[in-house]
Amino acid sequence: MGTSLDRQDGREKVTGRAAYAVEHPADDVLQVWMVQAPIARGVVRRVDADAALAHPGVVRVLDHESAPRMPADDERDLEFSVLQDDRVRFRGQIVALVLAETSEAAREGARLVRVDYDEEPHAVTMDDAEPYAPENGVNGGHETDYADGDLDAAIRDSAVVVEQTYTTPHEFNNPMEPHGATALWDGATLTLWDSTQAVHPMRSTFAPLLGLDEEQVRVLAPYVGGGFGSKGEPKAPDVAAALAAMGAEGRPVRLATTRQQMFSLAGYRTQTVSHVRLGADADGRLLGVGHAAVSQTSGFKEFAEQTASAARMMYAAGARDSTHRVVPLDVAVPSWMRAPGEMPGMFAHEVAMDELAEAAGVDPVELRVRNEPDADPETGKPFNDRRLVECLREGAERFGWTGRTGPTRGTEGDWWVGTGVAASTYPTLWSPGNACRIEVLDGDRYAVSIGAVDIGQGARTVLTQISADALGVDPSAIDLHVADTDLPVATVAGGSSGTGSWGTAVVQAAQQLRADHGEDPEVGVHTTATSQEYPDSDGHALHSFGAVFAEVHVHRWTGELRVPRLQGTYSVGRVINPLTGRSQLLGALVMGESVALFEEGWRDPRFGHVVTQDLATYHVAAHADVKDVQAHWLDEEDPLATPFGGRGIGEIGIVGTAAAIANAAYDATGVRVRDLPLTADRFL
Ligand code: MOS
Repeated sequence: MGTSLDRQDGREKVTGRAAYAVEHPADDVLQVWMVQAPIARGVVRRVDADAALAHPGVVRVLDHESAPRMPADDERDLEFSVLQDDRVRFRGQIVALVLAETSEAAREGARLVRVDYDEEPHAVTMDDAEPYAPENGVNGGHETDYADGDLDAAIRDSAVVVEQTYTTPHEFNNPMEPHGATALWDGATLTLWDSTQAVHPMRSTFAPLLGLDEEQVRVLAPYVGGGFGSKGEPKAPDVAAALAAMGAEGRPVRLATTRQQMFSLAGYRTQTVSHVRLGADADGRLLGVGHAAVSQTSGFKEFAEQTASAARMMYAAGARDSTHRVVPLDVAVPSWMRAPGEMPGMFAHEVAMDELAEAAGVDPVELRVRNEPDADPETGKPFNDRRLVECLREGAERFGWTGRTGPTRGTEGDWWVGTGVAASTYPTLWSPGNACRIEVLDGDRYAVSIGAVDIGQGARTVLTQISADALGVDPSAIDLHVADTDLPVATVAGGSSGTGSWGTAVVQAAQQLRADHGEDPEVGVHTTATSQEYPDSDGHALHSFGAVFAEVHVHRWTGELRVPRLQGTYSVGRVINPLTGRSQLLGALVMGESVALFEEGWRDPRFGHVVTQDLATYHVAAHADVKDVQAHWLDEEDPLATPFGGRGIGEIGIVGTAAAIANAAYDATGVRVRDLPLTADRFL
């Protein structure tokens, strides 16, 4: 561990031999195309499939009357309830599926399906409905509301006050590989080769949904081209693939979402509005922190982004108050997108801290150092190993941050030049119930099996390393088997919890193998262990921290913003593999730059659809947008988090990054942008 073992699946991926979900080899395949509703709310009156069925190659059209039935269930999750009733709940909803001999025929067939609707008035913008307190709590298990102390009194007593509103727009998960599946129903078993972050949780959702026993569902995800959260839970296209297979009379089916369909059927980050109140004494020591967050949800399934959660634990302040509200709309269900909650919330919070630093005349690094809590302000528990100050100090040193009490505002030719800083944090989540099987093979080799999924984060590689370390052998002696529900149960590759949770099961299985069979076990012996509660989560508040520094250039005549330098320094426990770990952090920093500069989805209030539904109108940072991006970490181990001392690193890199860039843009221009993204027009 701690070495840069090459990606175990790198060669397959870059040579094109890796078969992704919709490439799984299968004979006699039917292609599936989704017909989507062009209205935001209403009822399907009639589906006329005659013209589609007359088209050469079209085999079948499934609609809400002809699709396989799910068992009657008043509690059924309406997001997964594909083709089970005539309601249209959002624009883009699946209203029919066309099965055909070729993808082209399926697509043309979908165009020929005629659907008549009874349209109803819809509400699709945040102004169209009243916010309410989420009924099912906030994503990640956070309380909806939290209050400690009297915030109003603290603000009244403060010498320096910042009170501002910050917004983030709709953002859309755009992993390189869109959602898709190859599916086969043989009359007894449903097999899904699916692009998912979680094979076992997928099965647990699908089996009851489709009226099957868990043993009748097998999910495999050998290669996944990213997910960013959108593949953490099933989405409608996964369900559609399963239904199509069950309606295909024994033939396998393939369903691939298009890039455009990703903007209506794959989840997305809700827009957020954060009202932040910070009050401090004349030295910048916080007396009160308030964060009132409003996001939107769909009216038929609640999802509440945990936007204000970080404000509860980030800094010491006598009074802290934070709330979450959601506005229910006739839109698709929002979902997880890399660091849900922390990303938009810490944008607001860390820009507000920059405003406070300026108002108090305190260096922004020093301001954060001054507000370090002794223990977790939210729970009162000690932190596992809070090293934010070291991240700030080390990062400042490496970046060349010399301290300031006001804007530096330089110029280089026609470019205004500025620098900015923001802090980052992410909770250390650990999922119970992972299992791992280890079998002794010939020639001192070991087969290690767990249903974990490598979505590109490097799970195959680091689990090989963790296995080798735990068994005391070379990584080349490990045959790792992952991403199949036939293997021992594993939790989602999400919430930055995968490696820690799966890795704990691997280590415990290795320990059990050694305990049961000694150091030199016979070929063929094997052990399966289910992970025992590992982290000392009752005793400590487990979090990671980081500091992000950015240099920003803004063109004085065009307003174009560039980020020539972006640098993160993180405290994330032990980094198992510096190569894949650095890639995780760099990718997240780039994604943070992307949301800072570019990503902004627009919904047309007249029709309820996302207008920006391709990578031309919804730009995601590309190589040309990125210059010097660096990720560094402290040399440390965290035995409280995992047996191997590591904490999750999937999401922390995106947290705080947009704030650091916005703060640098302010330093360069004097224009305080509180609404992402930082488009050129803001600076003209
Ligand atoms: Mo991540 S958004 O928890 O997959």
